Amino acid sequence: TEELQTLVLTILDAKGTIPNTKDLITSDNKEVDQLALLGALKSLSIADKEMVKYETIEEEVWVLTNEGNEIADKGSHEAKVFDTIPVGEEGIAISALREILGETAKIGQGKAFKNKWVIKNGDNLVRAVDSIIDQTRIDLEVIRSTGTHSDQKVLFELRKRKLCDKHKVISYSVSKGPKFSLTIEKQARDVTFEMLQSGEWKTANFKKYNFDALGIPPSGGHLHPLMKVREEFRQIFFEMGFEEMPTNKFVESSFWNFDSLFQPQQHPARDAHDTFFLKDPAICTQFPTEYLKRVKEVHSIGGYGSTGYGYDWKIEEAQKLILRTHTTAVSSFMLYNLAQQKEFKPVKYFSIDRVFRNETVDATHLAEFHQVEGVIADKGLTLGDLIGFMNTFFNKMGVKNLRFKPAYNPYTEPSMEIFSYHQGLGKWVEMGNSGMFRPEMLEPMGLDPDVRVIAWGLGLERPTMIKYGINNIRELLGHKVNLTTIQNNPICLF
Ligand code: PHE
Repeated sequence: TEELQTLVLTILDAKGTIPNTKDLITSDNKEVDQLALLGALKSLSIADKEMVKYETIEEEVWVLTNEGNEIADKGSHEAKVFDTIPVGEEGIAISALREILGETAKIGQGKAFKNKWVIKNGDNLVRAVDSIIDQTRIDLEVIRSTGTHSDQKVLFELRKRKLCDKHKVISYSVSKGPKFSLTIEKQARDVTFEMLQSGEWKTANFKKYNFDALGIPPSGGHLHPLMKVREEFRQIFFEMGFEEMPTNKFVESSFWNFDSLFQPQQHPARDAHDTFFLKDPAICTQFPTEYLKRVKEVHSIGGYGSTGYGYDWKIEEAQKLILRTHTTAVSSFMLYNLAQQKEFKPVKYFSIDRVFRNETVDATHLAEFHQVEGVIADKGLTLGDLIGFMNTFFNKMGVKNLRFKPAYNPYTEPSMEIFSYHQGLGKWVEMGNSGMFRPEMLEPMGLDPDVRVIAWGLGLERPTMIKYGINNIRELLGHKVNLTTIQNNPICLF
């Protein structure tokens, strides 16, 4: 097309217009392929280029068939019959004519009789006139050189005889566009590193995006096994009337992650061995002032029927930014907000998101994992409600036999670890951790002492690994995950 573009531009430069491109001849003396030319014209005339303008010319052209060409070259069958008959009374025997002309004798005879060029004399054919005019040949020659004939009847008659046919021919008339020039400026497709460096991007002529292009068909999405199980858990929560908590931040202050949860500042979990601390920015200074004061008090001197821990609580420790170690930080924030409402209303919250712990990475541990967290707040809830709820919740996941074991969390009392009997492993495995939030956590928030909050947390990875038969957690999460494993996983949820 580049050659064709140059051809069009040079002719336009010399002559101003090209009335009909069907007359174009290439430098090596060939007719121009109009379809290829259209490509060239299009790229010279696109919206931001406008080097040329063109219009389509649609013409009907009559074209000779092979047989029509043959007749235009050598004469019609009937003329050949006439020419083969010798001058004189005797003429030629029909059988002899056949021998000389073959098929042509058969085809031409009838027409020659009809034209009154020949007559029969016994078994012989004799000339009936001195000379003939081969009109068929003349008509075909006209059609061949002009593409049509002044007499429509002739055209249709010859078409019936399969000597010519009508074709549609498309060509173009071309004129100079507003940005006509002899040189074609190369259009840039993308901004390159070099363009940015040289500043060329400011003046470069960019190819327009074609937003109508179909593009490459996408291969379809693939759900990560973890995301499938997460979706399953979400549906269970929604089914049971839970609202999803906004967990869309990985960085938390120690205040919300630990202090608000009545976790003392010397607690080993707050050590750098267990928690990732941020360097830049390292601290957060915005906290609800009154609430912060009450948290400080409950830690250092107690209150709400508690003696507290009796240590010197320091704001500097609470200000430290960390990667959240559990989503309970978000639960705490949500409960504080609930406590600020004029009137208490019972709530059911859940979240499923990432948490981070400074662990030694091995086949079953990563420094990050997903936590499934649930919180129910209402007046008069009991431990029985927690146990009953756990049974219903795990039942919906297909986990039947549950056992509860007393445990310890700084923020719950009582606390229970939840175990389920694993048929495959033949033993009881820990499924999660739960409890009732302590008054030392809830009352400084401003919640009524009658309000009880039951809560629990479990990992998303373990049920997923069991479900999908994955033995190494690094095959599930992190940079070692093999994408084909994900693509080959069934799309449906369990
Ligand atoms: N935050 C706890 C953990 O990280 C789970 C939990 C949540 C326990 C709520 C009790 C209540 O293991």
